[in-house]
Amino acid sequence: MAEPKKLYIKTYGCQMNVYDSERMAEAMGSAGYTEVSSADEADMILLNTCHIREKAAEKVYSELGRFRDLKDAKPDLKIGVAGCVAQAEGAEIMRRQPLVDLVVGPQSYHRLPQMEAKLRQGGTALDTDFPEESKFEKLKRRPKAPRGPAAFLTVQEGCDKFCAFCVVPYTRGAEASRPAARVIDEAKDLVERGVREITLLGQNVNAYHGAGPKGDDWSLARLIWALNDIDGLERIRFTTSHPNDMGEDLIEAHGTCAKLMPYLHLPVQSGSDRILKRMNRSHTADSYIRLIERIRAARPDLLLSGDFIVGFPEETEADFQATLDLIEEVRYGQAYSFKYSTRPGTPAAERVQVDGAEATERLQRLQALLTRQQREIQQAMVGRDLDVLLERAGRQPGQMVGKSQYLHAVHVTAPDAAPGDMARVRVQESGANSLGGVLIGA
Ligand code: 5AD
Ligand code: SF4
Repeated sequence: MAEPKKLYIKTYGCQMNVYDSERMAEAMGSAGYTEVSSADEADMILLNTCHIREKAAEKVYSELGRFRDLKDAKPDLKIGVAGCVAQAEGAEIMRRQPLVDLVVGPQSYHRLPQMEAKLRQGGTALDTDFPEESKFEKLKRRPKAPRGPAAFLTVQEGCDKFCAFCVVPYTRGAEASRPAARVIDEAKDLVERGVREITLLGQNVNAYHGAGPKGDDWSLARLIWALNDIDGLERIRFTTSHPNDMGEDLIEAHGTCAKLMPYLHLPVQSGSDRILKRMNRSHTADSYIRLIERIRAARPDLLLSGDFIVGFPEETEADFQATLDLIEEVRYGQAYSFKYSTRPGTPAAERVQVDGAEATERLQRLQALLTRQQREIQQAMVGRDLDVLLERAGRQPGQMVGKSQYLHAVHVTAPDAAPGDMARVRVQESGANSLGGVLIGA
């Protein structure tokens, strides 16, 4: 048998790219590749890229430049760019960086084995189609190798919302959902391989509208209820959601579905109605706050997470203050915040930009407030008993690290435990980024 060829994949950006990279590695497995963890030993390098902010896109080019020596030493080495930069820039990538042999977009990576064969014949390969066929239908069934306790599962892709700052509708295309039966099969498969917690993924995951087994239309809540019936699956999460797609059944499921975890990532981006309108968000600060109240009524201990953009074009100090006010009112246990980044081709790119130093200063103030809230909410876990899904060994002997139902990392001494075990932990301390506790009943 031929020596297996070695594939190194580096993943940037969101969890959906993490899932796509797994599937790309599996697809290349059928072309005789095994995955390796360093570029130095690879026969093929794939960068699975992110285009959401300028910095993320530029990182790709600086990383590519670093592969020059590797390619000089091994002229057969193939270099590919996948993901959203590939989709947005296409052939331009090869012009700007001639080291690149292959460019493949997020909707066509099931064709990677054929593209690789083309490279072996001495050519280059480019595919940034949005093909008629779905990659999920074309990709082979996933291999049966054992896995860690937590996994991502993409159920929805694309976005029809066209927020004025965002490239996603252009790089990932229109909203599309996988049929429910396919998702359920894949979830069962993951559980057989050792998975206990599944995070359902989509750019607008709560806009999921997949075909049900009888051809009917399933909402995300309906899908979650079906997954709730899988024996051996203990936890379900989903990310990321748009406020306008929080259906009544999904809100209710937060209070009634036992395996759905009390954690919700629900980005609002800004607390100013004027800016929300300019962002094309089609909700107001007040409608968002009322929505949160309804979800908290269903699940009072819900931990909320959000995304914020500061320095969006035309944002004034008063607009920014409205964002701080909204954060004070909502109280976030987790948050991601960004300085607005101009993305070519999006409507906001044409508008009057906020001074960069001013935006940086606002970001610092926003992050100080969010950090304070996160610390307080984490600190309030001390003395409580949490359910922790143990994921891996910690740094100290006998220590394990896992995630609480609220997604906080928790360290616990549990010498007899194994990854995948569910532990009841009494929290004793709150550190910078994690909690520490002891097993109850140990
Ligand atoms: N500039 C800054 N942040 C952005 N995001 C999306 N586009 C931009 C941009 N142009 C942020 C939003 C989104 C998250 C994934 O990235 O907050 O929710
Ligand atoms: Fe981008 Fe808005 Fe769609 Fe989210 S909802 S992916 S921010 S356009």
